[in-house]
Amino acid sequence: MPEIKISEARIEDSTGIAKLYPHWGLELSRKRVINSFLSKNEKRYVAKLGDKVIAHLLVKYGIGPHKHIASLHSLIVAKKHRGKGIAQHILKHALKNIRKGTEIVTAQVNDDNAVSLKVFEKLGFVQYGLLEKGTKEGSKYKNLVLLKKEF
Ligand SMILES: CC(C)(COP(=O)(O)OP(=O)(O)OC[C@H]1O[C@@H](n2cnc3c(N)ncnc32)[C@H](O)[C@@H]1OP(=O)(O)O)[C@@H](O)C(=O)NCCC(=O)NCCS
Repeated sequence: MPEIKISEARIEDSTGIAKLYPHWGLELSRKRVINSFLSKNEKRYVAKLGDKVIAHLLVKYGIGPHKHIASLHSLIVAKKHRGKGIAQHILKHALKNIRKGTEIVTAQVNDDNAVSLKVFEKLGFVQYGLLEKGTKEGSKYKNLVLLKKEF
């Protein structure tokens, strides 16, 4: 059984990453992922089991007066691999490799996502606000918990 390895994503991981988001449509996801490899201010991390991408995280760096802030996005672990600590593992890896000069890392989680909130809080993120109706899916809203970790 191959072990799970966390690494910075490479362009050849694009399809594997896109497959984790089938609800966005494979081509759109792939385009988004490929475009972000062109940006200096985005880094993607993947967890792989052998060649298969089983988890993903996107880190975006701010620019100009927000250069000291990084935000975390699109954390996902493939369904059959959840509950094994992989989300915590990929987040720890990203935090350990966060760009020098970063002082604040932010994340946003729907308030009904207890698992994700637990994961971020275990890694030292604290809630600093709530954006009511911060998520809209179709015509349904959810509140968004705003989290930060200071370095
Ligand atoms: C959220 C998500 C990334 C977590 O990934 P994961 O690899 O299963 O997470 P981990 O195994 O690292 O940690 C899960 C923690 O939540 C705990 N947990 C499980 N079910 C829970 C529940 N119903 N309520 C609270 N905590 C729960 C686990 O016990 C574990 O904590 P522990 O390490 O103290 O035991 C994964 O569920 C996922 O991809 N969900 C769909 C996408 C998503 O919601 N992404 C987050 C967007 S912000």
